[in-house]
Amino acid sequence: MRALVYNGPGQKSLEVRPKPIIKLPTDAVVRITRTTICGTDLHILKGDVPTCQPGTILGHEGVGVVDSVGPGVATFKPGDRVLIACITACGRCEYCRKGMYSHCTTGGWILGNSIDGTQAEFVRIPHADTSLHPIPEGADEEALVMLSDILPTGFECGVLNGKVKVGSSVAIVGSGPIGLAALLTAQFYSPAEIIMIDVDDNRLEVGTRFGATATVNSSDGNAAQQVMKLTGGRGVDTAIEAVGIPATFKICEDIVAPGGTIANVGVHGAKVDLHLERLWSHNVTITTGLVDTFSIPMLLKTLQSERLNAKQLITHHFKFDQILDAYDTFGKAADTKALKVIIEA
Ligand SMILES: NC(=O)c1ccc[n+]([C@@H]2O[C@H](COP(=O)([O-])OP(=O)(O)OC[C@H]3O[C@@H](n4cnc5c(N)ncnc54)[C@H](O)[C@@H]3O)[C@@H](O)[C@H]2O)c1
Ligand SMILES: [Zn+2]
Ligand SMILES: [Zn+2]
Repeated sequence: MRALVYNGPGQKSLEVRPKPIIKLPTDAVVRITRTTICGTDLHILKGDVPTCQPGTILGHEGVGVVDSVGPGVATFKPGDRVLIACITACGRCEYCRKGMYSHCTTGGWILGNSIDGTQAEFVRIPHADTSLHPIPEGADEEALVMLSDILPTGFECGVLNGKVKVGSSVAIVGSGPIGLAALLTAQFYSPAEIIMIDVDDNRLEVGTRFGATATVNSSDGNAAQQVMKLTGGRGVDTAIEAVGIPATFKICEDIVAPGGTIANVGVHGAKVDLHLERLWSHNVTITTGLVDTFSIPMLLKTLQSERLNAKQLITHHFKFDQILDAYDTFGKAADTKALKVIIEA
């Protein structure tokens, strides 16, 4: 089968690999029909993710058809159409029992990280019963690819952790796929204000189209002042960090209102200052977390009922043979205006 392989920092190739086989009774092998590329795949290619060893097939998002199952799989059979969660969960360990699947002792984020991932014609999915989701009859499979990672991430780590409420004010720092996923799902709760912040005017324009009430370009370093002006000097109830660098976490610290929440979503590679000399008296909450994907079944229903338009996050389409072009397009988002790219097998 064809697969996109990480060969060490800065190196990737489209290779022919053996088709995966069932290793444990609880495994399934899925034939991928559609996959995509995540900002985290680019982090891996920069060499930022040491758990991902050279030789690993990348990808942790996708939909497909069950090809074979181990004798311990009860929920799925060959031929079933499935959505793959980016998080693998055994459903039984201490963390799974708390709904913290991201910390599953034999799962978590392993796909396209510590084991081979979804950017291939076939993928082995451990703990298949609790890591795959059935695709309802007639569902738009392309839109469903947005449910593997980005929509649950924006919703769980941004909107839910950030306690977005009816009539509240929200600022989202970073208008990439994750920030935009938070923007779309924040609107379930009808906040009064949603301010998008980015350095890329195209992405801010997308934010306005997706429902932002205001946008701020932070290239000049004055984003916090602009947000304070927009909120009458009060700041925001929820500040969602969706970039992963010290400068954007600092913006969140500067704009969070007393009693508010900073919900960190970005993956940080460098240490960040915590300004307790100012925030100690502000009654703020800071949350962090890796997505658990417990919200996938709920998000699937909102997609089915057209309360959520996930498809608008998709900007480009490629065939599997063109996956290197897909990486090129996704990696140069400022020029290509790419958000999510669909790769079809
Ligand atoms: N916590 C989780 O479970 C989880 C899951 C998936 C992704 N992530 C992380 O979320 C973050 C966002 O992901 P993405 O795919 O949207 O990434 P992305 O790189 O596509 O988007 C980041 C956005 O931030 C903007 N940006 C860069 N510097 C900025 C600055 N100084 N001020 C304002 N905006 C700035 C960029 O223009 C871009 O639009 C990444 O760090 C990613 O690794 C976290
Ligand atoms: Zn991802
Ligand atoms: Zn577990």
